[in-house]
Formats: sequence, structure tokens, C-alpha cells
Amino acid sequence: MTTVLHKTTKLSLPAKVQDATTLLIEDHKLVDGLFKAYEKALTKTIKKKLVSQICTELSVHTQLEEEIFYPAVKKALKDHELVPEATVEHETLKSLIAQVEGVEPDGEMFDARIKVLCEYVEHHVKEEQEEMFPKAKATQLDMKELGGQIAARKQELMAKRS
Ligand SMILES: [Fe+2]
Ligand SMILES: [Fe+2]
Repeated sequence: MTTVLHKTTKLSLPAKVQDATTLLIEDHKLVDGLFKAYEKALTKTIKKKLVSQICTELSVHTQLEEEIFYPAVKKALKDHELVPEATVEHETLKSLIAQVEGVEPDGEMFDARIKVLCEYVEHHVKEEQEEMFPKAKATQLDMKELGGQIAARKQELMAKRS
């Protein structure tokens, strides 16, 4: 007769939940790395792959912020300025993304569009990280709870795109 000590040895523990801002900053860093790789890319094939990744990451990231993070921040801060401004910047980002997504990297005009997109992302990220995120963290918002929602939704959105 054997005694069962453990019901299962294969526990699927949930991944450690991270703060919303930590997750969003990770996305920002990832995209920054992709832009840096683009600057060094020598072939059209590599550029095309990087642009596809940049567009996916930025599209998913802006959607996560608009669906989950921004509404929570707007409510907690009773904000009528930071979130609307960031949302308008997302609109510009989306139009810049639309100009390069699925397009053949065909020379200096394409490179220029990527450069402008990169600079615009840098500007937007700076405002989020230096203004919006610190203000949001100073509220009663549960950043872990929001982080959990963001991580789950990101999985869904990435799966749809792959
Ligand atoms: Fe954003
Ligand atoms: Fe962001």
C-alpha cells in the first residue's frame, strides 16, 4: 500500500504578479531596444521583421493602456489633462504605425518614418514615466491588481496577433 503524499507534483503556480507601471515600463524598454536594433539593421529582411515587432508591441501596448491603465488613472487622479493628452498622442502614434506596418522598407523615406515614430514614442514614454506614472503611484490605486489585468489582457492580445 502506498501513501499519496502529494496530489500532484506538477503545480502550475501563477506567475509573479507585477505592478502595472513595472509592466508598462518593461514594454517601453523592449520597444526602445527594437528601435535601436532598427538603426543598426543592414538588410531589408531584418528591418521588416523589426518593424513588424515594433508595430505589434506598440499596438498592443497602447490598447492595454487605453483599456485598463488610463481609465483607472483618470478616475483615481480625477484627471482631465494627462490622460486625454496621452490618448491624443496614441492617435498620432497609430497613424504613424499605419504608415509603416506591412510596408516594404524601401529607402530613406521609410527610415525617416521609423525615426519620427521612434522620437514620438520617446517623447510619449517620457511624459508617462516622468509625470503620469509617479502621480498614479501616489494614489490609492492597486497597482498589483492592475498589473494582473494588464498581463492577462496582453496574453490575449498577443495570441490574437500571432
Ligand atoms: Fe502610452
Ligand atoms: Fe506606455
